Amino acid sequence: MKHLLSLHDWTSKDIETALELAAKLKKEQKAGIPHPLLAGKTLGMIFSKSSTRTRVSFEVGMYQLGGHALFLSSNDIQLGRGETIHDTAKVLSRYVDGIMIRTYKQEDVEALAEFGSIPIINGLTDLLHPCQVLADLLTIKEHFGSLKGKKLAYVGDGNNMAHSLLYGCVKCGMDVAVATPKAYACDATVVANAIEDAKEMGVSVLITEDPKEAVKNADVIYTDTWVSMGQEDQKEEKVKLFAPYQVNEELMAQANDGAIFLHCLPAYRGMEVTEGVIDGPQSLIFDEAENRLHAQKAVMVMTMGQK
Ligand code: CP
Ligand code: NVA
Repeated sequence: MKHLLSLHDWTSKDIETALELAAKLKKEQKAGIPHPLLAGKTLGMIFSKSSTRTRVSFEVGMYQLGGHALFLSSNDIQLGRGETIHDTAKVLSRYVDGIMIRTYKQEDVEALAEFGSIPIINGLTDLLHPCQVLADLLTIKEHFGSLKGKKLAYVGDGNNMAHSLLYGCVKCGMDVAVATPKAYACDATVVANAIEDAKEMGVSVLITEDPKEAVKNADVIYTDTWVSMGQEDQKEEKVKLFAPYQVNEELMAQANDGAIFLHCLPAYRGMEVTEGVIDGPQSLIFDEAENRLHAQKAVMVMTMGQK
């Protein structure tokens, strides 16, 4: 496997392998057992948007694997001044062993993969956030022991998180329900692809406008900011429209007993989630954030470790 552009491109087996490797690397790291699987390799990290978790976890992960990571703000490289993705891909392929990119258009990530000759990892686009979902799946698996037969309900904006959760959870044999306002529904192609995968896996996808319907029988309740990076101008409208989609104690009470709460972070307490829920006993957000490190180390080994 060469790239991680979308979890839709990965098989169920690929995801399972990544989660198993992540768990192994996590154990080794905690036990102080060195695992320099990418010794001498360099990861270029292109960021066109802000980041705390993605930046730090990739950089630290690469260090723990014996390699080196380069932070490349798109404002500071020629890409930000109009050099093409084509030329950037060709040039960086001569220097580094893999690229992680966080940007706006999914097509730009795909173009990097097309024109470059090194593995490309999607560190978030407007459409998808696959690395986050691998960490989420690892967290759910650690908590419940397995993924098959579990149900995840996503409540909020039909954004990159909703899309990647649809792709990733279905491929792991989970049922998924997504509740969004009609005006901010998920991308139709992503939903159609996920429904197709769900049929193959024998699981269900429910798309609704009703948060209560979505969280019924759910084991995992997930939400994300209502205002994603680059959409700041939609804030005023969204805050009103999304009020019924807040994950609060009342909504959590309608999910299964023992249900957990996840959020990719950064979170806005009092908006998409109440303080009581995100800081309460059902919330696993910091284990989830930690698992970015372990899951991405597995992704880097699986993509950049082959030669
Ligand atoms: N969840 C996530 O991707 O966080 P950052 O934006 O801080 O990288
Ligand atoms: N949907 C959010 C996720 C941040 C990790 C965004 O794109 O800003």
